[in-house]
Amino acid sequence: MFYFFSLILISASLFGSSAFAPSKLCKKCHPLIYKEYSQSMHKKSSIYNDPVHKAIWLKHPLRKKSEYECAVCHTPSDTSLIKALKEKKPALPKPNEIQMNEPIGCATCHRIESIERHTKQNSNVYSQKRKYYYAAKNGKRVDKVLKFQSKSSFFGLTHDIEGSPFHTIDYSNGGFSDGKICLGCHDHKRNEKKLAICSMDIKKSGKDRNNCITCHMPQVQGSFTTIVKSRTHAYHGFAGLHTNPGLLSKSIDLKAKSGDKGLSITIANRADHKLFAHPLRLAQLRVQIDRNGETIKLEPVNFFTILGKGGKPAMPWSADSILKQNVIKAHEKRRIDIAFTPRKGDEVHVTLGYYIVNPKAAKKLGITRKDLMTFRTLVSRSFLF
Ligand code: HEC
Ligand code: HEC
Ligand code: HEC
Ligand code: HEC
Ligand code: HEC
Repeated sequence: MFYFFSLILISASLFGSSAFAPSKLCKKCHPLIYKEYSQSMHKKSSIYNDPVHKAIWLKHPLRKKSEYECAVCHTPSDTSLIKALKEKKPALPKPNEIQMNEPIGCATCHRIESIERHTKQNSNVYSQKRKYYYAAKNGKRVDKVLKFQSKSSFFGLTHDIEGSPFHTIDYSNGGFSDGKICLGCHDHKRNEKKLAICSMDIKKSGKDRNNCITCHMPQVQGSFTTIVKSRTHAYHGFAGLHTNPGLLSKSIDLKAKSGDKGLSITIANRADHKLFAHPLRLAQLRVQIDRNGETIKLEPVNFFTILGKGGKPAMPWSADSILKQNVIKAHEKRRIDIAFTPRKGDEVHVTLGYYIVNPKAAKKLGITRKDLMTFRTLVSRSFLF
């Protein structure tokens, strides 16, 4: 134990006055959360670990100007790069420890005090207090600040501890229960032409009590820390299209039935945002029928966003309009009629899946990693007619 605390003291003096505590420090007491986080896109959001982000950055006009503006969302933990950006000095990512291993670190996220809404893109307001982390108490906001306390009783034979020996916890920040803290980075982004090149178009439904946190960080098995035991903890792999998409499948419902125009498929979206919001994605509805030992594959239905300029497809930085977009909106129920008449006894398999990068765009961008251009399943259901 002594060794461990002195390790923290040494590392603490290494991380300087403005920087965030390194995520490796959290690993000792929050090993499960650290492990999940290590698989998440928040750990891989820099150009060094995300080949898709890198490919776009390499083509981006800001690169020639040495202005890596992406940093405010993709690598906010790299405070020296952010400082250079603010001071209009050359600001390009370098393969340092933060860029490589924790571009969006544990402490960075847990120090978001509030968000500011702006037209171009929102921003995060970080608390100035070091080792002072916001959290929710069992998913709820409560007016409480928990400082470490160790009380000994029975003449020092037992110790009752409360709180964390490393940091203070503040449970009064509502953004950690309703999901608002995600919106400094995740709401929208406009380019120089004021076009919203990526927008989640968030719409809440009165009935649904889910939010960004309950869907993307559901409670999973295992204790949140080794010091205090809990049965479950908030999943820190941040379920998404890259990581653990299966955790999201229950927020989309698929139905198939016979309609007047043939086969009628319904996709019901329970998410508060439109699906496949990023313009690089290509989603597909695939339908396959098993009939008397034979397999019939129907033409897939595509969902996508095409950005354009002067009526032609364009890159996000030069686009001035959305040429075409048919992705499914927040809480939308989309009905798709297919000219195919199902017969009694048919087994109809319906799959909603996606490509991380539309294979056509991947070619143009020089992205070669096969898994990024391979079809992946998000939800799949079978129906017997
Ligand atoms: C020396 C061990 C230790 C280290 C190191 C540590 N924590 Fe903790 N942390 C704890 C303990 C213990 C708790 C639970 C306190 C309680 O509920 O009584 C906790 C609780 C938390 C909570 C609140 C959980 C909740 O909902 O109650 C957050 C957030 C948190 N830690 C973040 C971090 C981050 C970020 C780091 C690294 C920068 C870190 N911790 C490093 C021991 C540690
Ligand atoms: C306002 C915050 C913000 C800024 C600024 C920002 N991004 Fe992003 N970016 C995001 C978020 C959030 C995602 C994840 C969205 C998603 O998966 O739908 C993302 C995802 C991406 C992706 C998809 C990555 C993948 O693996 O699928 C690319 C590519 C990308 N950004 C490029 C850039 C580039 C290049 C810049 C700078 C010129 C930039 N972004 C600036 C917030 C931002
Ligand atoms: C992108 C933002 C983000 C990042 C990065 C992040 N967290 Fe969290 N963390 C949250 C949110 C949101 C919650 C859920 C609300 C809550 O319990 O505070 C949470 C919950 C927690 C909890 C309480 C879990 C529970 O079930 O009670 C701990 C402990 C914690 N985080 C530690 C960490 C550690 C350690 C890391 C890095 C390995 C980390 N967080 C990275 C946003 C983040
Ligand atoms: C500091 C900015 C920032 C904050 C705060 C943030 N994110 Fe992210 N998030 C990103 C960026 C950037 C990406 C894209 C990384 C990439 O693909 O390169 C991303 C990616 C994701 C993804 C996609 C993962 C995948 O596998 O495709 C999910 C899901 C996600 N974030 C959920 C959340 C949730 C939920 C919160 C709030 C608890 C949150 N994020 C807070 C910046 C942020
Ligand atoms: C009812 C559950 C639900 C809620 C609530 C929800 N999401 Fe999602 N989210 C999903 C599903 C399902 C997907 C997968 C389809 C897709 O990529 O759009 C997804 C995908 C994402 C992605 C990845 C998109 C991509 O293209 O890589 C991000 C980022 C994300 N959500 C962030 C958020 C944020 C931020 C919030 C809060 C405003 C939120 N989500 C609320 C279910 C939900």
